[in-house]
Amino acid sequence: MSTKYIINGGNPLFGELEISGAKNAAVAIIPATLLVKDVCRIENIPQISDVTMLLNILKSMGAEIRTVNKHTMDIDCSKVKDPSATFDLMRKVRASYYIIGALLGRFGEATVAMPGGCNFGGVRPIDQHVKGFTAMGAEVDQNNGLVTAKAENGMKGSSIYLDVVSVGATINIMLAASLADGTTVIENAAREPHIVDVANFLNSMGADIRGAGTNVIKIRGVKELHGGSYSIIPDQIEAGTYMAAVAGTGGQVLIKNVIPKHLDCITRKLVEMGVTVEEGDDCVLVKRDGPLKRTNIKTLPYPGFPTDMQPQIATVLCLASGTSIITEGVWATRYKYVYELLKMGAKIQVDGRTAVVEGVERLTGAPVTSYDLRAGAAMVIAGLCAQGVTEVDGINYIERGYENLIEKLRGVGADISYVNYPDEENLNSKDAG
Ligand code: EPU
Repeated sequence: MSTKYIINGGNPLFGELEISGAKNAAVAIIPATLLVKDVCRIENIPQISDVTMLLNILKSMGAEIRTVNKHTMDIDCSKVKDPSATFDLMRKVRASYYIIGALLGRFGEATVAMPGGCNFGGVRPIDQHVKGFTAMGAEVDQNNGLVTAKAENGMKGSSIYLDVVSVGATINIMLAASLADGTTVIENAAREPHIVDVANFLNSMGADIRGAGTNVIKIRGVKELHGGSYSIIPDQIEAGTYMAAVAGTGGQVLIKNVIPKHLDCITRKLVEMGVTVEEGDDCVLVKRDGPLKRTNIKTLPYPGFPTDMQPQIATVLCLASGTSIITEGVWATRYKYVYELLKMGAKIQVDGRTAVVEGVERLTGAPVTSYDLRAGAAMVIAGLCAQGVTEVDGINYIERGYENLIEKLRGVGADISYVNYPDEENLNSKDAG
């Protein structure tokens, strides 16, 4: 059985919606609990499939996980004894690479299945993670779909300069260094809000990490971490996605449970495009009733414009007057979704890392596919803005990272529903759900 979204587009969005906990913080904090031989109460966990998969991986490793309520879990990894995790499930989640850093930190060794995750059509290397682990005394091998790492004499603090600004490598080195012998310094570290969140989580469990949020992070290894409770920050990209949706459809939506500072890079661009964004303490009011204006976007590591918002904003720019230029500065390829937008009447030309978007009067509903999480979100936005019916396939990608997307959008007036259908059959004979 597969599921599609069916969207009747063309309606402006009005109302309120609430943002969930940050996916990219949750998928690091859950593996980070492996470092703690005690109960960690984690609050504001988003209900998304990447989180479910990681919780299942931890359970298979011997962790005890108790659901306190919908968004709160008690995770106790004290009984985890084996520094290996070679489940097939791991190949489906990119963030399972954090289990390598966490196991190295706890046991000084790790055998882990190679991480999977969203595929933008190119290679997603982990050489900078390996560079960090090696500098700290681990010998690392990648063979037969497994990553094996072992520090014969235990993990030692070290100084690591990242050749590329990498979110994953920065977090993984923090995990491996928290219990290491001595001080680790990461230079050219990533500065995303979720890096700070992971450091805050570890510090609240007794780690000594300073400088997270700047490009130099110092981790003084401690003997052990203790249990405690921690609440995950709101999801910057989920909020940005709904902001982009309102920009595209027009209307007025109050987006609650956000940290407006984390949204600055997105807000600034939307304002250039003719959208009004009013910031409250923990909410933003997004309004558009005039025409959309063109702009140029270059994606960069934080505080630059996030690559994870590139497909969504490109979709909105399809409806702006004039020509916009988008440059992808993080991933070598992330434009597969463009061919789907062309089916809906968009005018976009891609050349390497650059996309030239010529604004059109309207998009028209069509059957489209999600090729990855954010590409899928872009298809939903395109469907909401388009005249007529859009069918969005491949929604398992979307559900990896957006909690209750349908319900949240319906709550602000979108006409969007699920349709289940047997894989082989044609959509005409499906039940609408
Ligand atoms: N890179 C290397 N070597 C490495 C690691 C990264 O060359 O060892 C390169 C990558 O090829 C890429 C750049 O460095 O060109 C940045 O990659 P980064 O390591 O920062 O990405 P990541 O940690 O694998 C996380 C998010 C992605 C997000 C990127 C960039 C998670 C689980 N994933 O991936 O999120 O695009 O950072 O911000 O945190 C998403 O949420 O849709 C998503 C794909």
